[in-house]
Amino acid sequence: MQWGLKNRLSRIFNPETGRTVMLAVDHGYFLGPTRKLEDPRATISPLLPYADALMVTRGVLRNCVDPEGAIPTVLRVSGGASIIGPSLAAEGLTTSVEDAIRLNVSAITMSIFVGTEHERETLLNLAKLVDEGERYGLPVLAVTAVGKKLEKRDARFLSLCCRIAAEIGAHYVKTYYCEDFEKVVDSCPVPLVIAGGPQLDTFKDTLQLAHDAIAKGARGVDMGRNIWQSDHPVAALRAVRGVVQENMKVNEAFELYESLSKG
Ligand code: 5RP
Repeated sequence: MQWGLKNRLSRIFNPETGRTVMLAVDHGYFLGPTRKLEDPRATISPLLPYADALMVTRGVLRNCVDPEGAIPTVLRVSGGASIIGPSLAAEGLTTSVEDAIRLNVSAITMSIFVGTEHERETLLNLAKLVDEGERYGLPVLAVTAVGKKLEKRDARFLSLCCRIAAEIGAHYVKTYYCEDFEKVVDSCPVPLVIAGGPQLDTFKDTLQLAHDAIAKGARGVDMGRNIWQSDHPVAALRAVRGVVQENMKVNEAFELYESLSKG
């Protein structure tokens, strides 16, 4: 792997633990002003000290994140579909690699929609992005998107998606946790991080999800709604961080969450 590419990945994955806590705040690119992310700056600012990297679009990065801040960014460069449009899978590339470099990002990211009518174009866009990213030493994160079909999140389907993304050249892949998650990890030759998905019933469920994913080989999380839709987003992120970066047990991290929530 090229030096620049490795260097950028080491800004995202803590070299001491090999893990990352990414904060996903890119949802507006297809959801618009979704709940508790209506004012991105207000949501993001208090969380920045506790995330290893921020997953974000260029519009929010430019307007809602101070350039003086040192947080590494993973720039979403795909879009073109909305929650009310005909297909969430109809995504193309929305941001050039040159703009990603101007924004000094640490990686670029896009979604692939395996098993949909847009499978081919999203996979070919991933190939193009890997070629362009590697020209400049920019790692590519592929997201195995499922759109509204959350029931598709099983090991067989996700293994297929993750493996295809890795075969095309993605440097790491974001997917969902599922039963038999170790099968997804074992059949994917690049690191995996997990999304949180829609807010779970309790915050303990979120911690359990992060814990189990790490125990089964995930190299981190890239969570959004389960953090910033929480009643106590900073406490939530710090507790998830405890699980991912400090090997905390679920109960220990939950105690941290409760004590920070009261403070
Ligand atoms: C949307 C994304 C989101 O960043 C992703 O879903 C992570 O956020 P959440 O934890 O809220 O699911 O990639 O396609």
